[in-house]
Amino acid sequence: MEPDTQAIYESMWTKLEAGSSDRRSPFHTPVIATTDSSGAPQIRTVVLRRVDREERIICCHTDRRAAKVAEIMACDRVSWLFYEASSGIQVRASGTCRIHCGPDDPIAIETWRSVHPDSRVCYAAPIAPSSELEHWVSNQSPEARAISLTPPGADDDPPDTFVVLATSIDRIEWLDLHHDGHHRVRYTFDETGESVATWLAP
Ligand SMILES: Cc1cc2nc3c(=O)[nH]c(=O)nc-3n(C[C@H](O)[C@H](O)[C@H](O)COP(=O)(O)O)c2cc1C
Repeated sequence: MEPDTQAIYESMWTKLEAGSSDRRSPFHTPVIATTDSSGAPQIRTVVLRRVDREERIICCHTDRRAAKVAEIMACDRVSWLFYEASSGIQVRASGTCRIHCGPDDPIAIETWRSVHPDSRVCYAAPIAPSSELEHWVSNQSPEARAISLTPPGADDDPPDTFVVLATSIDRIEWLDLHHDGHHRVRYTFDETGESVATWLAP
């Protein structure tokens, strides 16, 4: 019997939501791909921080100085890869990425106010990510301990280094390995936002 593509679609988003809320979920640490100035793909692991099923938006956080931010400013198309080894499920998603940062961006502000103090430490690193070093340094701020011990305040503004990368997904693909025939289905979206499922040869 043909599997139900709507049921697959919903379970895919349930896994993505779990990935943003459950540190033990394999979907918690996906890979995001950008394109660099030479046209080469660049991939790296990130933490999945937020998933909005209705709006089809998925987010991670990064440092404003990171290479990926400059890459997204030049080309806002990104792809994500999720893999759950225990079930053999792969999800590939692609879309347009928006960069939210600074004290005037409501999403950056709202998000920053919920960032755990231990994570806030990352955004105080004195040396920009990817800078070449003559020798190893911890690159931790002298304020790191104080930052990690300070509870988030309701009026905190994000530092200039804090960025939310928010991808609006326009294509997402599910692959579920089965011994009697893999399930591979692609979802795109019509003008009303309804998902359109297409089976693909695995
Ligand atoms: C488990 C894990 C989680 C990571 N999470 C993030 C993250 O949420 N944001 C981020 O910018 N980098 C994260 N990194 C580091 C990136 O993989 C990458 O090394 C770094 O962001 C520099 O990438 P770029 O030079 O392409 O910008 C993580 C690495 C690992 C291993």
